[in-house]
Amino acid sequence: MQKATLSLNGQTHELPLVVGTEGEVGIDIRKLRATTGAITLDPGYGNTGSCESAITFINGEEGILRYRGYGIEELTEKSSFLEVAYLLIEGELPTKAQLDRFRHRLTYHSLLHEDMKKFFEGFPPSAHPMSVLSTIIASLSAYYPENNDPADVELNIIRLIAKIKTIAAFAYKKSIGQPYIYPRNDLSYTGDFLHMMFAVPSETYEVDPLVENTLDKLLILHADHEQNCSTSTVRMVGSSGASLFAAISAGVSALSGPLHGGANQAVINMLERIRQDGANYRKYVEMAKDKESGFRLMGFGHRVYKNFDPRARVIKAAADQVLERLGVDDPLLDIAKQLERVALEDDYFIERKLYPNVDFYSGILYRAMGIPTNMFTVMFAMGRLPGWIAQWKEMHNDPNTRIYRPRQIYVGPNARPYVPIEARE
Ligand code: ACO
Repeated sequence: MQKATLSLNGQTHELPLVVGTEGEVGIDIRKLRATTGAITLDPGYGNTGSCESAITFINGEEGILRYRGYGIEELTEKSSFLEVAYLLIEGELPTKAQLDRFRHRLTYHSLLHEDMKKFFEGFPPSAHPMSVLSTIIASLSAYYPENNDPADVELNIIRLIAKIKTIAAFAYKKSIGQPYIYPRNDLSYTGDFLHMMFAVPSETYEVDPLVENTLDKLLILHADHEQNCSTSTVRMVGSSGASLFAAISAGVSALSGPLHGGANQAVINMLERIRQDGANYRKYVEMAKDKESGFRLMGFGHRVYKNFDPRARVIKAAADQVLERLGVDDPLLDIAKQLERVALEDDYFIERKLYPNVDFYSGILYRAMGIPTNMFTVMFAMGRLPGWIAQWKEMHNDPNTRIYRPRQIYVGPNARPYVPIEARE
């Protein structure tokens, strides 16, 4: 077995290596503290593997992303979101019969318990749909309590994927004061979501196949991304034995931040700000380089990709076609392209290997499809759900899983006697 050698305080320690199927090398430090008394320090976990996983492979230097071995370019072209969801969760592409059954079950579990409508009513209209989404998902554990029976766990997985689109659409309808539109069993997964979002009782709503298809592709592109912030959150919460719903709800909360999934909304806000400022994108590139400004180019940079984010490539190519076919002329698309061009020629961005990420162009596509800005991160969550579930399931079924419990290097005061309040200054 290959080993790494660590020299510490004059002593040599051998640490085993773990090599992945794509040749990635990890130093196994599971016994480090027990044998040396030392721990590793890695704030932000940029060099820390938290698990071995067979779900998603990323090569950030080469811009590669594969789910269970299949490249996302091929999956977006030839597959469907439900097929990809099945692939991620079950490990293999479904047969026709398996996919039919999966689709049927997702269709017939899409209703929410009527009592749950009261939860939506309790939120102020200004509530961000991401807060509503995480709250309602957490509350599903009250309706569908979990035990460890694999059939129950599997049914809860189906329920969650089936209901997330209903929850998302209800959250939107609540925010604009329109009546909830119930799911329809004759529509596709994405078609049904669009219908629940945009139909009103007084009119017939026809799902636009182009919008349906584009949304399906966007969901595929977001479906998994190995151990990112929200997925690690799902695994961390799940490692305590908390329910699937609790773990996914925590993942939704983690995704909402502007440095993570919330970036797609932040990108549109930024592009809008630049447009209102006379489309002076050069000024904003300069601001992004100036640390004092506190401004970053949203939708740029990535912890793992030091090359083009392969998802951004697919989305950028789709954006031109879809906007043209939908007859949408969005000035923000031009600003985004100019911003990208200027940034990619600039030494600051070149040296730091900062490229557009998945969120840079996705918001422009969502806008063209009529999805409001405050729903962008919800769309991301809908897409990411199968990935979160697959990662949760992998962790749940792994006999070697231990509760996630990092350590720390304490830098606070040493032991000192309690000071009575009268003696404090
Ligand atoms: N604009 C300007 N400078 C940037 C940007 C940016 N968007 N991103 C990184 N940098 C700079 C940093 O200031 C730092 O510079 P320095 O070395 O001179 O100090 C260097 O590039 C490295 O950046 P870090 O923040 O250390 O990189 P990290 O891996 O921690 O962060 C992150 C990655 C959070 C994605 C960051 O690039 C960022 O904030 N981007 C904007 C937000 C965004 O688009 N998030 C979505 C990511 S994709 C997703 O979650 C789905």
